[in-house]
Amino acid sequence: MFIQFSILFLLSTTPFTYLIKAKQDNNNFVRSLDHKALSLENKKEKLSHLKFYWHDIVSGNNPSSITIVPSPLKNSATSFGFVNMIENPLTLGPKLSSKLVGKAQGFYASTSLSEVDLLMAMNFAITQGKYNGSTITILGRNPILDKVREMPIVGGSGLFQFARGYAQLRTHSFSSKTNDAIVEYNIYVLHY
Ligand SMILES: *[C@@H]1O[C@H](CO)[C@@H](O)[C@H](O)[C@H]1NC(C)=O
Repeated sequence: MFIQFSILFLLSTTPFTYLIKAKQDNNNFVRSLDHKALSLENKKEKLSHLKFYWHDIVSGNNPSSITIVPSPLKNSATSFGFVNMIENPLTLGPKLSSKLVGKAQGFYASTSLSEVDLLMAMNFAITQGKYNGSTITILGRNPILDKVREMPIVGGSGLFQFARGYAQLRTHSFSSKTNDAIVEYNIYVLHY
């Protein structure tokens, strides 16, 4: 008798609880928050300017930039499709021997059949000063032959939470002998 009752009870309630639960799950995965919940109410959004040099070292015994996928096309002037994985040093001055402030980790790829445009996806991991451990993420288009290029800052972590902004790039030097490049980065970023 008791077992019968339990089974009946289960049969009658299970679909209901399931429905209610599903409804709650639908409603609960997004909620609006007051700025106070993340202690942001008294914090002002800051604008910071970061300047450093990015070293793309493809030559020598210790390259920081390595082709992991060559262009599948035999006669592509833009090497369409190639991908380089990078962990490029970021230094305070244009010389590689100047102070290391972080690493640019990510990849770039040739995404144009007609000009040398790169898709760049990079995390700038800062390793110095109060920003040590914080990161800035860049995702953008880099037409490398242009004098000035601009790429979006799409986010960040640590002191760069909620980051948005842009990076301006200027080629500082390029060696046609080694294909190594040094690029000046000026980053303008809003963050808390
Ligand atoms: C940066 O942070 C790491 C990890 O906490 C630490 O090992 C390193 O010494 C720090 N570097 C500087 C320059 O503060």
